[in-house]
Amino acid sequence: MILLDGKAVASEIKQLLKKEINGYIKNGLRPPSLAVILVGDDPASNVYVKNKRESSEEVGINSLCLKLPSETTEEELLKLIEKLNNDDDIDGILVQLPLPPHIHTQKVIEAISPTKDVDGFHPLNMGKLATNVKDGVIPCTPLGIWLMLKHYKIPTFKKDVVIVGASNIVGKPMSLLFLKNEEATVTVCHRNTRDLKSHTLAAEILIVAVGKPKLITADMVQEGAVVIDVGINKLENGKLVGDTDFEKLKEKVSAITPVPGGVGPMTVASLLVNTVHLYRLRHGFPAHPLTEI
Ligand code: GUN
Repeated sequence: MILLDGKAVASEIKQLLKKEINGYIKNGLRPPSLAVILVGDDPASNVYVKNKRESSEEVGINSLCLKLPSETTEEELLKLIEKLNNDDDIDGILVQLPLPPHIHTQKVIEAISPTKDVDGFHPLNMGKLATNVKDGVIPCTPLGIWLMLKHYKIPTFKKDVVIVGASNIVGKPMSLLFLKNEEATVTVCHRNTRDLKSHTLAAEILIVAVGKPKLITADMVQEGAVVIDVGINKLENGKLVGDTDFEKLKEKVSAITPVPGGVGPMTVASLLVNTVHLYRLRHGFPAHPLTEI
């Protein structure tokens, strides 16, 4: 069984980015820059934003962290985004989700210029992913999962891939990545799927992004499957677990991601890749090679 060590792979990607950014600076260019907006004080979001900031700085990306109170109005947030859209020194804008309920998330996502949309959530970038148009932005978690599979040389061509969870952030864009170039056969399961187990048992590659501890038990996976667990669930005892019964699955599968230390660090590494990708496009360079799929 191979433990898919996202922390180690992310660290390699960060080393590569650091070298690349040093090259730009040696040539007299400014460093890439990322603006992260956090509205309110959700404790999990605070941790994610801190991780994003520290990782950016590790590789030489300037990070601007804008923390706004939970009472911030939609109008104020949209004004801030417009200001950042018009700032030539900003390459990427990320609004941490979830937003407080009085703010329309989709409106905010659509206000971010598609050329600064590091999350790849703007409908134009989603549409580019869906229709194979170059120079878009691939959402960070699907890109991170893809880069991890490629790092471990796990074959994806002609495979039966099953994705559990159909969110705009993970499940849907992940399915589009596997459909690109007619790479794999994809099944997407969700809360209205009638017989989840019949689908997960058929998966050669199983990706789970639901947010329910132990949703996937050992009897639901085939011998030798590759399992990617995107879930991050905090149990009452404070322990972090994924969406799969890791201890039982690891006896049966050929490869699996741990939680924490699997998909999470790869998502952050992909955010840095996307920031450098948008920086390159802004400066007239081609798309970042790690985003070419
Ligand atoms: N909240 C949970 N995941 C994400 C993500 O990938 N991007 C943003 N902006 N917020 C999130």
